[in-house]
Amino acid sequence: MDISVFGLGYVGAVSLACLAKEGHNVTGVDIDSTKLALLQAGKSPVIETGMPELVQEVAASGRVKLTGSTQEAIAQTQLSFVCVGTPSQPNGNQDQSAVVRLTEQLGEALKLKNDRHTIVFRSTLVPGTVMNTLIPILEKFSKKTNGVDFDVCFQPEFLREGSSIKDYYKPPFTVAGLSSNEPKAVFEQLFSSLPAEIIYTDIATAETMKYFCNIFHALKITFANEVARLCESIQVDPHAVMELICKDRQLNISSAYMKPGFSFGGSCLPKDLRAINYIAKQNDVDIPMLKAVLPSNRVHLDCALQKIAQSGLKKIGFIGLSFKTGTDDLRESPLVDLAEKLIGKGYTLKIYDPEVNISTLIGANKHFIETSIPHIGSLMTADYENLLSTSEIIVVGISDPDLVATLIKSSRKEQIILDLVNIKGRDGLSASYIGICWK
Ligand SMILES: NC(=O)c1ccc[n+]([C@@H]2O[C@H](COP(=O)([O-])OP(=O)(O)OC[C@H]3O[C@@H](n4cnc5c(N)ncnc54)[C@H](O)[C@@H]3O)[C@@H](O)[C@H]2O)c1
Repeated sequence: MDISVFGLGYVGAVSLACLAKEGHNVTGVDIDSTKLALLQAGKSPVIETGMPELVQEVAASGRVKLTGSTQEAIAQTQLSFVCVGTPSQPNGNQDQSAVVRLTEQLGEALKLKNDRHTIVFRSTLVPGTVMNTLIPILEKFSKKTNGVDFDVCFQPEFLREGSSIKDYYKPPFTVAGLSSNEPKAVFEQLFSSLPAEIIYTDIATAETMKYFCNIFHALKITFANEVARLCESIQVDPHAVMELICKDRQLNISSAYMKPGFSFGGSCLPKDLRAINYIAKQNDVDIPMLKAVLPSNRVHLDCALQKIAQSGLKKIGFIGLSFKTGTDDLRESPLVDLAEKLIGKGYTLKIYDPEVNISTLIGANKHFIETSIPHIGSLMTADYENLLSTSEIIVVGISDPDLVATLIKSSRKEQIILDLVNIKGRDGLSASYIGICWK
């Protein structure tokens, strides 16, 4: 293919070299004439393992051209990768001046081109940038239409400096955010030989997931370092601890606990967080991230409260009371907390939880309900159908498929369903639907 790469920093230079190595004709564009001259001379503009040899090889192949002209690069290629920098402004916001200026020039160049062209933004861009800012700029300056005269995609880049050539050939996956289906063929042609799944999604999802990949990496490093600071204060080897933690691929290094839903609770997580934070306090160890976990969990519970308050409805039915589906354990259940707050604010509640009902009958939870939450125990009902028919707003706190199926069948359009657990099949609901933090 004939490909242009705009911005020849770490991402652009590595992409240019790897694409040329794969046999494509690649035109590199940068406003920095030093970078153009270095590449022209077969030298890498970035310090990166393997780049000196690779750049020398591809420069000698004759497949690499360099120019400072956006128009020339667009005219000579069918596909462009945009890899210009997107640094921070002093206030933390993303500085998009380079990508905006370049996009204006790309629009002007597209105006002069008759063939359909694909533009793939690879710079990290805050969610919404491509659809709300860059596509309108391209359409304005080209006087053409996205999806008709040209196509725009966003493909997050996952390479790491220091191992970027290796990462180019073995990415975790290829994510392509599309605004039209046309460029799928291009992605297949360019990336299907890599040992990585190609996943198509919308552009905002691709922009957002790139941010949260980086933030997750930052969070993991901070977690390991906070664990280590605490370990040092109690004379435990943090390397041994972290190694063991990472050996658990079922619960720790896995997708477990990585699904948006309601606040956590139960008999272990809150109390253990409190104990570790207490030890940190005793030993004068600062672990701000771990200290913020319980307050953040509380903020999440408040979101549910706010959504209920915003509905203006007063008769509430709870499906579930225990801290997670399939258990009768009510200790530190966030649903108990939510119910208590609502009772305090004068809402009328009915609560149905099959596991808790059974344990109340056989006595397992009887003592806890009678002594710790008698005001809630008295609101529990065994008549699920009655709860569904008499509640104005139904809070789904457990994801039992049979209960959800009955809810879907019996819901009425004047009711509101507040979903805390991401119920399946909700398209079948007659009631209005709100997720705790999704639409
Ligand atoms: N560096 C990484 O490891 C990495 C990894 C993944 C994603 N990213 C993202 O990729 C983007 C690029 O990162 P980088 O580290 O390669 O940046 P960089 O600063 O090393 O390079 C950016 C290049 O863009 C050039 N440029 C600026 N305006 C231009 C224009 N109008 N036309 C042509 N070239 C122009 C600059 O001269 C510079 O050479 C950023 O959004 C970054 O967040 C970087």
